[in-house]
Amino acid sequence: KSSKNGDRQGRETFSSGLAVFFATLGSAVGLGNIWKFPYLTGQNGGGAFILVYLISVVLVGVPIMIAEFYLGKTTRANAVGVFKKLKASKFWRIIGFMGMMSALLIMFFYSSVAGWVYSYVVKAIRGDFRVLSKMPFDAAGKAVEAQFGSTVGGTFAPFAWQAAAVAVVTIILIAGVKKGIERVTKTLMPVLLILIVIIAARSLTLDGAGKGLDFLMGVDFSKISPSVILTALGLSFFKLSLGMGTMITYGSYFNEENKIVNTAFKVAVSDTMVSLLAGLAVFPVVFTFGLEPGGGPGLLFNTIPLVFSLIPFGNVLLVLFFSLAAIAATTAMISMVEVPVIVLTEELGISRRNAVLSISAVILAIGALTVHPESLFGSTMIYGKSFFDFFDYLSSNIFLPVGGLLIAIFVGWKVKTKDIGLSFGGGSDDGDSRLAPVYHILLKFVTPVLLLLVFLNAVGVISI
Ligand code: PFF
Repeated sequence: KSSKNGDRQGRETFSSGLAVFFATLGSAVGLGNIWKFPYLTGQNGGGAFILVYLISVVLVGVPIMIAEFYLGKTTRANAVGVFKKLKASKFWRIIGFMGMMSALLIMFFYSSVAGWVYSYVVKAIRGDFRVLSKMPFDAAGKAVEAQFGSTVGGTFAPFAWQAAAVAVVTIILIAGVKKGIERVTKTLMPVLLILIVIIAARSLTLDGAGKGLDFLMGVDFSKISPSVILTALGLSFFKLSLGMGTMITYGSYFNEENKIVNTAFKVAVSDTMVSLLAGLAVFPVVFTFGLEPGGGPGLLFNTIPLVFSLIPFGNVLLVLFFSLAAIAATTAMISMVEVPVIVLTEELGISRRNAVLSISAVILAIGALTVHPESLFGSTMIYGKSFFDFFDYLSSNIFLPVGGLLIAIFVGWKVKTKDIGLSFGGGSDDGDSRLAPVYHILLKFVTPVLLLLVFLNAVGVISI
């Protein structure tokens, strides 16, 4: 039954197709686009990596996103409840439980990085990076690294910034699906899209723009190696928020008429455009100043302040750049935390408010382990990894691929093509249901095999 808010069966839903689009795009667009995508592209050969990434988005990312939307939309249930409603054997609930674990594991380190981003917004507004423009280039490089070191190494500040990031997420989530998630993503995602276009446009007017473009667009096939393929596949997974029930959860807030296939394609295309625009923002600057494209994870926190402090209007751009990174990180985090929140409220009957507060408390308690610099920069903690790297490795290389594989197998082999076709149609079938047979073959045979290869390679069972 529908209430006057358009809720389905007493559950909140997003209020329009546009709300669905911005919420799911808000989940996909995150630090993955602005931080991981440029540095992985830099390290893995530029255009060749991007080409492989695009292929993985089409063959693995989009099919799994559709499968997750299908599960959520047709059952209107949380990531654990889905499998109860479908009367699947208990085994499949593992997808939901692993999803909740992944949400926490990613939040432990992601909230740390989000905290750094928040603090860089404030630093940029205060003009902390202006001194860099008055220094010789080498000294400025050292100074910006020192600033990053003191940001992450402080005794109190990094914990406080992480707590601030988690607090923002907590407040938005307590407000609910419509008044929280929908309102924030609908307001902020258009702002983010405008900001990234402005920054990319500014970068493209620099002297190094041509080289930057060549790097991004020129495909050198000799750079495509098995490890490049596997890295690209893994990134497409993390990027599109797949394999941990996020898209199942958001799919469960869809209305009857919201389109599954159409939304998945629009989100995948827009998310990829944001990644490419982030690349267009970063690489012209890198080449203009003769920096290393393969500079690694420091690209965002070191290179960007350094180079933007040297170009006209750079200080304004810096504020804009870190603001957009903060928006991206925040809307991605709310989608992660929503996964366990809705499971706790619906499966255990805990109030939304208490569910959000207790999960935030767990994130802060354990996430604090990733803040401390020793645990970030190498001293051995668990299985030879720092807590930061351990949480990152465990989630991206094990939990997400296994989750995605199980989702592909479940929807590929346990669901009828006819039912998928019905869900594709939405309120008014304009032909999407005819895609179901082709889609189902892809999900049965192609997607799981590719995923299995990534996973087996990641855990070292095979090495390609
Ligand atoms: N897609 C986000 C990013 O690229 O930053 C990260 C992410 C969000 C991963 C939500 C998983 C998730 F459930």
